[in-house]
Amino acid sequence: PTLRQLAARHDLAFGTAVAMAALADDAEYRTWVAAQFDTVTAENEMKWAALEPARGRYEWGPADALVAFAEAHGQRVRGHTLVWHNQNPAWLADVPRDELGAVLKDHVQTTVRRFRGRIWQWDVVNEVFEDDGTLRDTVWLRALGPGYIADAFRWAHEADPDALLFYNDYEVEEVNAKSDGMYDLVRELVRQDVPIHGVGVQGHLTADHAPLTMRENLGRFDALGLRTAVTEADVRMPLPADPVKLQAQANVYRTALDACLRTPGCLSFTVWGYTDRYSWVPGWFEGDGAATILDEDFAPKPAHRALRDGLSSG
Ligand code: G3I
Repeated sequence: PTLRQLAARHDLAFGTAVAMAALADDAEYRTWVAAQFDTVTAENEMKWAALEPARGRYEWGPADALVAFAEAHGQRVRGHTLVWHNQNPAWLADVPRDELGAVLKDHVQTTVRRFRGRIWQWDVVNEVFEDDGTLRDTVWLRALGPGYIADAFRWAHEADPDALLFYNDYEVEEVNAKSDGMYDLVRELVRQDVPIHGVGVQGHLTADHAPLTMRENLGRFDALGLRTAVTEADVRMPLPADPVKLQAQANVYRTALDACLRTPGCLSFTVWGYTDRYSWVPGWFEGDGAATILDEDFAPKPAHRALRDGLSSG
């Protein structure tokens, strides 16, 4: 059985981020995406800079291609991401401050409407917290105040009432100051009847630390009545990889998967790339890599076995 077949026994979707260039150029990559996963996320192609490189000029092609690929292969799509401080178009810097609210609303609604009915989960708001759980100082906070977060969910819901709307962040897998801040925010949004439906923990983890409080953390969001999802799992290590590090990595993947499996409302487990042939990690963390479940030649690593074992048990 494939990963998606094993996950289906738990009512869990098993997903991957997709690099569109690789999907177009690499047949082996494409075959794995189609066969093994039932959820896909565009690694970059649904971000604002990619969708609207010049103001009012949209480039939907790559995002459309991913949605079409997904539909052709019976897969659901996680939309990523509407409101962020990274990968925004350069022209945004020239927008007068008093127009930023309208411009953000237009971006959210134009994008969500474009794919209405075809996106399962949207990451509506991404990465607004500092490590200490306070709000990050971004263009949106400075211009609009903290109310933009609730507004973004309302705008998205208006544009596609059937999409599940997520808040998504990193280093919030475990119970810590940052996930406490996230908890306070989403609890308040729920209390105010803001249309938020889920919380995504990205899951950019390291092989030297298993996220032992992840189950407890997902549980507290579950108890608020929210769905949860692991949205961007990968587990990096200092290169070169060796059997000891690869086994530690496998244990970390398994700990994260088990936390999701044991959380009733955890809908999907998505890896942020599934082969070391294409991974953002080496380009970002100097000296680190080997973060995915298959090596550069698509050979399964111990982490792949660990996830299969986790999905096969229970
Ligand atoms: O598209 C340009 C290309 O035109 C140019 O020639 C090239 C030269 O550097 O850059 C290309 O853009 C790169 C883009 O990926 C597309 O490949 C950017 O430099 C590069 O910074 C960007 O990195 C992405 C990163 O987000 C940027 O924030 C990674 O691929 C992507 O994996 C990563 O994903 C994020 C999630 O969205 C949010 N959570 C964290 C996660 C990891 O950082």
